[in-house]
Amino acid sequence: MNPQPTANPSVASTGVTVITHPLVQHKLTLMRRKDASTSTFRTLLNEVSMLMAYEVTRDMPVQLVDIDTPLEAMQAPMIDGKKLVFVSILRAGNGILEGMLSVVPGARVGHIGLYRDPQTLQAVEYYFKMPQDMQARDVLVVDPMLATGNSAAAAITRLKQLKPRSIKFVCLLTCPEGIAALQKAHPDVPIFTAAIDRQLNEHGYILPGLGDAGDRIFGTQ
Ligand code: URA
Repeated sequence: MNPQPTANPSVASTGVTVITHPLVQHKLTLMRRKDASTSTFRTLLNEVSMLMAYEVTRDMPVQLVDIDTPLEAMQAPMIDGKKLVFVSILRAGNGILEGMLSVVPGARVGHIGLYRDPQTLQAVEYYFKMPQDMQARDVLVVDPMLATGNSAAAAITRLKQLKPRSIKFVCLLTCPEGIAALQKAHPDVPIFTAAIDRQLNEHGYILPGLGDAGDRIFGTQ
């Protein structure tokens, strides 16, 4: 039996899109395996990020520009990549950045440094650097794991102070608790993910999940 009912992105609930493309699902399964090496994990995350960027940017505005083909002049659509900002939640968000930038090389990049207080699991900010003119930009906030939702919610609260044109949140994996927390804080922010796992454990890890994404990307376990 095919466990994925559709090869198209499916809207799991209002504001949540699960990218169910078989290539994304296959690569995610390889990443989840505990014996995947750091280099395998990183390569797969890079590939999945490219594929996810394809879906997440589906509604990006294009404008017609004048070009010359070898045969004649025409007007053809182009994206204004400079209007897009990828905001990485450090450090694991950087694992998604590379793949996304390889398909939208003109995008700008912002970084937010947040760590989870191990006792409270609340997000504490230690770094914030964004491109200028955020009011004119569409933001994709990236972090592989939407777990408690605290970091994502804190990052988006901070970004909203800069009044960007739009904000989307992109993760590889999430769980019902993470979705509920982010939607409670920011019901206007669409969430894109490759999977919604069963639950959070008492340490704020997603089950079955893939472990600590930062450690798996950077080999710091
Ligand atoms: N962050 C991770 O890296 N993994 C989880 O499962 C949850 C949060």
